[in-house]
Amino acid sequence: MSTETPATWRVVITNQIPPAGIARLRECEGLELDYPEKKLESDSICAKLREGADVLYCLLTDRIDAKVLDAGGSRLKQISTMSVGYNHIDVAECAKRGIAVTNTPDCLTETTADTTLGLVLAASRRFKEATAAVIDGSWGPWQPLWMCGNDVHSSVVGIVGLGRIGAAVARRLRAFNCTILYTGSRPKPDVAGPLEAEFVSLDGLLARSDIVIPLCPLNAKTTGMFDAAKFAKMKKSAVFINAARGELVKQDDLIAALKEGVIFGAGLDVTTPEPIPLDSELLKLPNCYVLPHIGSASSNTRNGMAKMAADNVIAGFQQKPLPNPVKL
Ligand code: DGY
Repeated sequence: MSTETPATWRVVITNQIPPAGIARLRECEGLELDYPEKKLESDSICAKLREGADVLYCLLTDRIDAKVLDAGGSRLKQISTMSVGYNHIDVAECAKRGIAVTNTPDCLTETTADTTLGLVLAASRRFKEATAAVIDGSWGPWQPLWMCGNDVHSSVVGIVGLGRIGAAVARRLRAFNCTILYTGSRPKPDVAGPLEAEFVSLDGLLARSDIVIPLCPLNAKTTGMFDAAKFAKMKKSAVFINAARGELVKQDDLIAALKEGVIFGAGLDVTTPEPIPLDSELLKLPNCYVLPHIGSASSNTRNGMAKMAADNVIAGFQQKPLPNPVKL
């Protein structure tokens, strides 16, 4: 590959992006932007790519599979996703075709950890039921045993995948005097040490934790990881939190576990599918608090992600080392 910056690169963008990202791309001389007025569906992405594109700037809602890559042909050199997760991209196909993939790690860690903590508090302390009681008038005089939930402080929290977001969540919960257990492919003493977090088996974590939080990437190994058998291994009083990807969970099994009192409650920022159909049982359960995938949704962070994805494009165009390559 030549190390000289080509004269121009055509960038296809699949949706409207936060202002800082589009501004950064517009500042860069030599980039020709194809910027849509609204979200492009898969067929329109393919059509744009067929017109010729060097890079595709996409979001986590765009499925980038062999069909899309075929439409890009040999001109397509890079996929820049404005997300840390890249399970929507067929990275094996990209590797086969020599297409680089870049993502936006780090900048959303703290914001996503804040949201996760919100879910922990809401699900443990029954915020959904309590809010409903305020609205439907069933809030009566103060009663000693009404609407009692679980303490978050001083509880045992099990984190599956002590990566960047897992560690940021653990750091917050240490301030609540929680004990942190974690599991994953290997112990991480550098991360776990300051958190006084204990490495345990998955079964050990499920048996001992009051709050279980998977924060691992979605891949072939983790898809459907949380099923009926896993929920059965948790405490009856356990709270299950998911701010990673809906597909980590067999959702029907979670619904059954919540309905039958196998576990106490759940807090979810992600579901399958998204958006969750309005008639989903999940939404009817009083002990399941659902957010619409807003983990990283602060203006600051979304602008940061958009800028980071733009910088990844610019580095590719300028033939510089990519700041955030996904290992293919
Ligand atoms: C990501 O970037 O993968 C997150 O899910 C966005 O919140």
